[in-house]
Amino acid sequence: MILEVLKPYKCVLIFLLVLPTQFAYAGGGNGVDLSKTPFEIVETTPKGEIVNPFDPANPEDAESGHTVFMETSCNGCHGGTGGGGMGPPLSNKKWVYGNDADTLFRLITLGTQELQKRGYTRKARENVRAPMPSQASGDIVIESLTTERILRIITWIQSLHIEK
Ligand code: HEC
Repeated sequence: MILEVLKPYKCVLIFLLVLPTQFAYAGGGNGVDLSKTPFEIVETTPKGEIVNPFDPANPEDAESGHTVFMETSCNGCHGGTGGGGMGPPLSNKKWVYGNDADTLFRLITLGTQELQKRGYTRKARENVRAPMPSQASGDIVIESLTTERILRIITWIQSLHIEK
């Protein structure tokens, strides 16, 4: 009986039911599924579409990214403040492959040789011109470098470039 009455509105009802789930999905990490591994994200996300759900302008987000950076020994090559060392500086304005979250995520996950195999070339020259090993597996196995933690590091790197 009640269904009979609702029949003309069925489409509207379905729309209203589906709508919140769409929003919930969009809100869940801004489109990046944080439960996927970094390699899954790289393989399944079209180029340019890995977006950072964290805010480089938020000091808490930036600081937590710096903590992960230190915990996963990026500082061994890039210095504790990202000023460079065995690896190029992350705090200067030169970017070897690009400074958008999508490129940085792929670079950190794949390492630079695999990145180059996928068509990326060095656009700028830093003082160091060596390959960076994949940080998500390989020789330096960093099990704890999850998708979320890579995005947090990227947040910190990007925070170094906010004009103060
Ligand atoms: C074994 C040394 C080493 C470690 C450890 C290392 N890197 Fe690198 N990194 C490099 C080298 C060398 C390059 C330059 C790559 C090139 O020119 O192709 C680089 C490049 C980069 C770049 C691009 C810099 C630019 O100016 O465009 C970023 C960003 C970066 N690394 C982030 C990280 C993060 C985050 C970690 C930790 C998860 C990390 N690296 C760990 C050696 C390292």
